[in-house]
Amino acid sequence: MVSLVIKDPKDIKGLHHKRKKFVKKVTIPDDTTLQGETRELNGAVKRIETDKISTWTPLNIPQGAQRKTIISEDSRVEEIGLGLQNRNSGQEIVYKTSHKPLDLNPTEEDERGEYDEVFYDMDSMETDSDDEEFGVPGAFIIKNSHFNELFLKSLTLEDVPNHGKIHFVCNSWVYPASKYKSDRIFFANQAYLPSETPESLRKYRENELVTLRGDGTGKLEEWDRVYDYAYYNDLGDPDKDEEFARPVLGGTSEYPYPRRGRTGREPTKTDPNTESRIPLLMSLDIYLLLPEFKSLFDSTPNEFDSFADVLKLYEGGIKLPKGPLLKAITDSIPLEILKLLNSDGEGLLKYPTPQVIQEDKTAWRTDEEFGREMLAGVNPVIIGRLQEFPPKSKLDPKIYGNQTSTITREQIEDKLDGLTVDEPLAIELSLPHPDGDQFGVVSKVYTPADQGVEGSIWQLAKAYAAVNDSAVHQLISHWLNTHTVIEPFVIATNRQLSVLHPIHKLLLPHFRDTMNINALARQILINGGGLLELTVFPAKYSMEMSTVIYKDWIFPEQALPAYLIKRGMAVEDSSSPHSLRLLIQDYPYAVDGLEIWSAIKSWATDYCNFYYKSDDAVQKDSELQAWWKELRKEGHGDKKNESWWPKMQTRQELIDACTIIIWIASALHAAVNFGQYPYAGYLPNRPTLSRNFMPEPGSDEYEELKKNPDKVFLKTITPQLQTFIGISLIELLSRHASDTLYLGQRDSPEWTKDQEPLSAFERFGKKPSDIENQIMQMNGDEKWKNRSGPVKVPYTLLFPTGEEGLAGKGVPNSVSI
Ligand SMILES: [Fe+2]
Repeated sequence: MVSLVIKDPKDIKGLHHKRKKFVKKVTIPDDTTLQGETRELNGAVKRIETDKISTWTPLNIPQGAQRKTIISEDSRVEEIGLGLQNRNSGQEIVYKTSHKPLDLNPTEEDERGEYDEVFYDMDSMETDSDDEEFGVPGAFIIKNSHFNELFLKSLTLEDVPNHGKIHFVCNSWVYPASKYKSDRIFFANQAYLPSETPESLRKYRENELVTLRGDGTGKLEEWDRVYDYAYYNDLGDPDKDEEFARPVLGGTSEYPYPRRGRTGREPTKTDPNTESRIPLLMSLDIYLLLPEFKSLFDSTPNEFDSFADVLKLYEGGIKLPKGPLLKAITDSIPLEILKLLNSDGEGLLKYPTPQVIQEDKTAWRTDEEFGREMLAGVNPVIIGRLQEFPPKSKLDPKIYGNQTSTITREQIEDKLDGLTVDEPLAIELSLPHPDGDQFGVVSKVYTPADQGVEGSIWQLAKAYAAVNDSAVHQLISHWLNTHTVIEPFVIATNRQLSVLHPIHKLLLPHFRDTMNINALARQILINGGGLLELTVFPAKYSMEMSTVIYKDWIFPEQALPAYLIKRGMAVEDSSSPHSLRLLIQDYPYAVDGLEIWSAIKSWATDYCNFYYKSDDAVQKDSELQAWWKELRKEGHGDKKNESWWPKMQTRQELIDACTIIIWIASALHAAVNFGQYPYAGYLPNRPTLSRNFMPEPGSDEYEELKKNPDKVFLKTITPQLQTFIGISLIELLSRHASDTLYLGQRDSPEWTKDQEPLSAFERFGKKPSDIENQIMQMNGDEKWKNRSGPVKVPYTLLFPTGEEGLAGKGVPNSVSI
């Protein structure tokens, strides 16, 4: 073992900041480089690099010595002990070390504390022995004796006798040692299957997993390193008001749901099954602001009067008057959350122009664009081939009556001539039957019209369809099918696969920040009264509805080819690329998606086949089997009895499972996430609420529709307040952070020591640029008209490499926003 003990904050000279410290890289001993990063609140990263500091050589220590602390004569050095574990013999070597504070020359900006994360250095060591008998270090322990946590990026040992460099990729906050019951350990970057672990490391490997699993009790604090499961029992706030009570999701057949990470907070007073929420001040309670916002818009009571009115949001902005509202906002909301409302602190609400109206302000209203967005918009994963006519419902007719579609052949027959796949033929809207569900629904069918009041009715029908699609998109395509279903994989991987396990190394980049963003979502988005309920039409029933859809979630069908076949959008065809023939060839999401899917699959195949030479090796891998079992029984425990789960007995099953996990976390999420602002940042194109029934001939509304169709349209869809909240939110959610890693990238070239996987990863890393070339070429070819459409927004949502901000392209490795 190598242990590194930092004893006294005085030895750590750095830039102090009240919140966080950041160590980018520590290289020991020669040419030691310390790098720090400072991150501005807007995500920009500033780098600082320091001088080299010191050297080390091993010191002879008798065999069998335990970890030791050696005090240097150098007065600046308190106590630092460094020991090496001989992987072969278990011998432990301790090094004498010293460290020299660095001259960091903090910049003026740093001193002003404008940065969220600031540089903090960690000192290195000097030893004075030339012993060459020690073995190769396999892990080190670090004890942080500061009062504050630090972020340890990596550790590199250079000139290890008979070995050369050894890399430890850490990427972890290290809290003060007093916070931990067991030592913080970091392993070298060599992967081992459990049975191949060197004897001297085995105990540490197993103990670390035990630590990470925790004991299932108590409230987990920020520094606790425990991955455990819990139901979604933290969405409601019944202590606040009955209105904010929400059912527990997960653990029942009525509300099945994937598990979330356990936090262990106290139950609420009102309901022992509901977990209490993080105190108000630490999160945004948008409800507090609602009355204020409402009063603000009393002059034009909560409505946009015209499309020109809507466009002001992007051109010039809307200024909140100075006064109590603005003061309340700026005083009471943390800066990060204030950003959510896109305010500059002076009360100006101004948003970037969404791509869908950048080139043409009205093309979004065409039928062609409406249809195209089902193939290349923000929710291109719902469209399916009609396989029976009229379409039948799967709802139980005993409970829900006759739900069969009322669309007739006559209604669409005359539109089939000259049919193009991207134009809608009919929209059927249904309302609950006034006499009860058992009587079925009241349905009405609308067909395209572009003139007069019929044209206005058709525009409204498309808006109602878009409102439904918006909710399906946010709740199902986005939240449930990416964010939620991945979290159990994150938890199971951390609990059951050691960081030494090759599959842990394979999947780790695809789990980055997922639990964080999901925790934030439970705090302010999907909670009772949260932003999602405010902005999508199912309101307080939103999450309950997503549990109904989870009942039909099938893991193997999340594979893109299987999914396309299931929806009738493709058929198997061995003569086509990817052995799949798309029934709509100009289906941008599927075309680009299949390229990415294939790249991921080749990579997973190369990687898994290196470590597993046979199916037998898969079956005999104790950690892998425990991982898969727990994933099914606990993480997706409400689906544990499903027969479709892969049995994880063959290499192919492992490859397929890893491909699906990586696909969901990267490309599937990117396709449904980063188009939010480009398409839905302009609410008329993707409205989230409908507030009025369709005007019927003879009514006042119908007469108004004749006179002022735009006003009726805007009075029907999402009102002003929800528009502000909605576009503020999706503007944030559509951004890439500056430190995002895209598909084919990893944060350290030292992530593994094994050469063949490194070469395979290099091949995988070259695929994105090939895919990008193909996308650019197709986007520029008018033959593929669905790739840009009337709004002239080229399809780049699956363009692998992105850039910071609202790029509208880029496939990050993980679900992190
Ligand atoms: Fe997302």
